Formats: sequence, C-alpha cells, structure tokens
Amino acid sequence: MAACAVFLLCVLSLQHAVVVIANNVVKRAALTDLSEGFCRSWKFGANIVNDVLYMIDLDGGIIPGDEDGSNNYLVELDLTSAFSTDDGSKYRMSLVDSSVPKLKDQALWSDKANTTLYSYGGRGASDTSADEGLWTYTIKNQEWKLQQASIKPVRLVGGAYTNAPDIQAAYWLGGYQSSDTTLSITDKTVDYAAGMIQFNTTTGVFTQLDAPFTPVQQGALVYIPVGEQGILVYVGGEVPSVQEGINATLTPNAWDYVQVYDIAADKWYKQTTTSSVSSRTEFCAVVEKDPSSSSYQVYVIGGADFRSNDVLYDVSYLSIPSFKWYRAGSLDEGRMSLTCAPYGRQIFGIGGRLAWADDSEAGCYDMPAFVYDSVSEVVREEFDPALSIYSVPSATADDIHDSPYPASWADPALASLFISPTNSTNSTGSASKENKDTGVNKGPIIGGVVGGVVGALMLLALIFAFIWYRRRKGKRQGGYPAEVQLNRDDDNLVGVELPAQSATSELEGSTERSELMAGEVHELDGGGSRIK
Ligand SMILES: *[C@@H]1O[C@H](CO)[C@@H](O)[C@H](O)[C@H]1NC(C)=O
Ligand SMILES: *[C@@H]1O[C@H](CO)[C@@H](O)[C@H](O)[C@H]1NC(C)=O
Ligand SMILES: *[C@@H]1O[C@H](CO)[C@@H](O)[C@H](O)[C@H]1NC(C)=O
Ligand SMILES: *[C@@H]1O[C@H](CO)[C@@H](O)[C@H](O)[C@H]1NC(C)=O
Ligand SMILES: *[C@@H]1O[C@H](CO)[C@@H](O)[C@H](O)[C@H]1NC(C)=O
Repeated sequence: MAACAVFLLCVLSLQHAVVVIANNVVKRAALTDLSEGFCRSWKFGANIVNDVLYMIDLDGGIIPGDEDGSNNYLVELDLTSAFSTDDGSKYRMSLVDSSVPKLKDQALWSDKANTTLYSYGGRGASDTSADEGLWTYTIKNQEWKLQQASIKPVRLVGGAYTNAPDIQAAYWLGGYQSSDTTLSITDKTVDYAAGMIQFNTTTGVFTQLDAPFTPVQQGALVYIPVGEQGILVYVGGEVPSVQEGINATLTPNAWDYVQVYDIAADKWYKQTTTSSVSSRTEFCAVVEKDPSSSSYQVYVIGGADFRSNDVLYDVSYLSIPSFKWYRAGSLDEGRMSLTCAPYGRQIFGIGGRLAWADDSEAGCYDMPAFVYDSVSEVVREEFDPALSIYSVPSATADDIHDSPYPASWADPALASLFISPTNSTNSTGSASKENKDTGVNKGPIIGGVVGGVVGALMLLALIFAFIWYRRRKGKRQGGYPAEVQLNRDDDNLVGVELPAQSATSELEGSTERSELMAGEVHELDGGGSRIK
C-alpha cells in the first residue's frame, strides 16, 4: 500500500515485466524461475515458514537469462512435495518491492504465527543505501513495509543471528558497521557492535542484551528450547584488535568452548566442549533434536579456515547437553559463506562461495540450494518431505547414553537447565527456580507495539542504548578492513566482479565489474565457462 502511494509506481511494481530505459533499450523481463541456470550468490537471507523456503538478497547480476544487477529477487521453494534441488523451475522468483533496499547478507526472521518475515542487517548491493531500519514482508498479501520505529538498531553486517519463533523472538549478536552498511562511514573504518539485540516479533520491541564477549564478527548463534525460555548457543567468531577503527587484526576464537545464553535468566556461560572440530569462519549452523536421547545436535556446515582460507567440506555437530563434538559425513564440495535452514532432518545449504575470493574465482554451482541429510550424512539430490524424523547415529546415541553431561559444567545453573530438578541434587536443582523472574531486568528496553494496520506500524520508544549507535564523518572511500583478507588478488581484478578498492562486497563499488552491477557481462565474459 505504501509503495503504491504513487499510482505509476504501483503499475510498475505490478507489471515489472519489461522496463524501458532512457535510451530505448528494452531490458529483459525479470525471471520467474531459474530454468536458465544460476551461478552463485553470497549471502542469502533464508527462512522456512509454512513449508516454504524463502530466500532473499538475490540480484540478477550473474544469473543467466537475467544479468541485471538492479533486479532484487525473492525466491521461494515449495516444500510440500519432493523435488530435485537442481531443478531450476522449482525456484519461484518474484521481484522485491523497489522501495526495499537491495542488500546482501541479511537476517531473515519470522513471527510465531508464520504470517510475517523480517529482514534486518546486511551490506549494500552496488552501493550503500540509507539505513531506514528493519523491513517486514507480509506473506499473505506479499507486501513489503518499513517497520516504523522511532528508535531502532542501526544496520549491522557480519553478526551471528537466529530465529526463535516459539518464544516470539529473534537475536543478533556482534557484527559491525562500515561504509557498506551506513552512509555515515565513508572511509575504511569498521565499527564493531557490543552486545546482542533481541527483537520481539510480536511486539516489535528491540531489547539490548549483554554479551560479555563482544566485539566479535561471524560465528554462529542457534536457539535450543530448554529451560524456561530456551538458550542461545554461540560458537566460533573472530575478535578484532580494536572495536572501532581501521586495520584491526582479527583473532579467531578457539573451538574448545561455546558461549551459552539462558534467555530467561539473562545470563551467559562459557562452557567447555570436548573432542575436536575444525575451527572455521563463514559457516552455517542449525539444530537437530534427537527425541530418543533428548539431545540437541548443533550442526556446523562448511565454512573456511580463517588462516589458510581453505574452504571446508566438513560437517560436524556439537551434541548438547554432553557438549561433545562429532564428525559427520562431508559435503561433496567445499562451501563457505552459506546460509542454512533445517526442515526436519534435511538441512538446506543456501548460496555461498566455492572458494575464498571476491571474483569469478568464487566459482559457480548449479542452483542456490542443496540438501544435506543429517541422518544419512550425505548431500541428497532430492528433497523429500516424507523422510523420517531426525535421529543421531547409534554410536553417538551410545556415547550420549554413557556420558550425557560434560565432565565439568561452567555453572550449576547451566546444568540445571538440562537436569531435571526433581531428579537431581539440590545444588543443581535450585538454580532454575531462582532464575524464574529475572527476565524483566534485561538491559535497556524499547517499549512499543507493532500495529497490524496497513501503513500504521507504531513503535513507542522508551530508551535505547546501543553503544554502536554513532555517527562519524570520513574523508575517503573504500571497503572495510575487517575482511581485508578477502582481498588477496586485488592486483588481478580485471574482468572480475570487484573493483580493487572494494575489499569485500560482491556488490560494492561503482564499476561494471561488480557481480551485481548493470555491466555484469564482464564476469560472464571473463568466467563464462563457469556459468552453467
Ligand atoms: C510455521 O512454519 C514452520 C515451518 O514450516 C512449521 O514448522 C511451524 O509449525 C509453523 N507454525 C505455525 C504456527 O503454523
Ligand atoms: C514477546 O512478546 C510477547 C507478547 O508480549 C511475549 O508473550 C513474549 O514472551 C515476548 N518474547 C520474549 C522473548 O520476550
Ligand atoms: C592501514 O594499512 C594500510 C596498509 O598496510 C596502511 O597503508 C595504512 O596507513 C593503515 N592505516 C592506518 C590508519 O593504520
Ligand atoms: C524423575 O523423577 C520422577 C519423579 O520421581 C520420575 O517419575 C522420573 O522417572 C524421573 N526421571 C528420570 C529421567 O529419572
Ligand atoms: C534437598 O534438600 C532438602 C533439605 O535441604 C532435603 O530435605 C531433601 O531431601 C533434598 N532432596 C534431594 C533430592 O537431595
């Protein structure tokens, strides 16, 4: 409705079939599916709601049959029947309302009732757009709207995030602002966030929560429904040497512990883990529950070694509450910068790169999504909604049975979330009771309501204290040093997607080399043999 305020815009957005540009060149119609092929995109926002896998942050820049970086697609896969993930005709595409900024690397969250999607964060595609806030997509009427809020978190990228629709919340931890996220940074400054954001998907309230280990980038955050409101588990990530500045050095966190957040108690615990796992960055993570052992497996899929930049095939899982790592069957090919979405035992891996590069060296793959079957531990060619439910391998089940808990807990209160007070000793059993009513004392809370009325979302702000909410003016332009390691082959960027001064974004910069820019033919020319 808002987008249709001007009648002409309305007509254009409804038709969007053929656009006549100034010099009378008729551009190709926007795609309705991927029958003509795909190449790659990093990084999608993805979420499964009501048996539909929604994917955002796809432009047409290097997609055969489109090749228009200004197109901004919503892609949908219907999960009610079996299909081959390599069948391009199954990927239903529609153009996102043109008023929505074209971004990459956003979080895509959903509400408990499965009526609304929320996109937050991300980096600019082709250029940096004004940071207006979080956008909502109402599934029923396919309408995008800016969520009206007088105070809101700034746009961040490179954070870890998770959706927890059962408790009507979504979380974002860490990440940073740079010239790719905000117009107020014009040099290579990277401004890291502190803490964690909770977004209540029912009320629209943002809450600033503590995270004792920020600043940090990357890593993964997952939700596990234990205890009163559930816990968040954070794994991996890199810590910058300075919170705000240029040329920060990044140090990867060790993988022999995870950070666990008890939502109801508003408390973090640093819990050690056992057995080994390959440390990595730009991976994805999802949770699978094993009903028979009441354990939760946090699968980490792909990624890349931060120091060697080698892309990983590895799939491993952390079993909780034993907090022990296991290795599962690998992917068929390495994949980094991917997004994951679980549907029962089948885990969709979406988008990403085959190599740590910003140009055509990042490779092409057949279609945006593949399916990793966490029971058979292989990549399947077919998605099948009828597959049986998840269970852990029997060797793991035996292991969990023999030692269900870690040898040493970070805190008795953490143990109490997993060990029923009735059946445990008093020392561990008491903590969960004490925690009952501490949830209301969380950091600064933004009060408000989200009205469901068209064009009339309201947010009444009380107080806000994101410490990364800053403004600065810079003099020079450029990419961001946080991921300067991505920029290894700057000298040889002729004919590839990225301008040399653009350290990271596929979409960044102002040249036709960009994967997403109007002149995207350069990549198709240079790396045409890779396009399938
Ligand atoms: C929302 O969609 C998910 C994914 O399809 C499903 O598991 C869940 O049960 C749905 N919730 C509601 C309230 O319909
Ligand atoms: C979000 O708001 C709803 C409605 O007020 C509330 O029931 C729910 O507990 C809130 N979620 C969290 C995680 O606080
Ligand atoms: C950042 O590193 C580059 C390349 O090493 C150097 O030229 C530049 O002076 C550094 N900037 C700052 C602010 O340290
Ligand atoms: C926990 O205690 C209850 C009540 O004493 C009992 O019925 C239940 O079987 C116990 N559960 C376990 C896992 O021991
Ligand atoms: C817990 O402590 C109380 C008194 O402190 C005692 O009466 C009770 O038996 C204890 N229960 C267990 C399960 O140890």
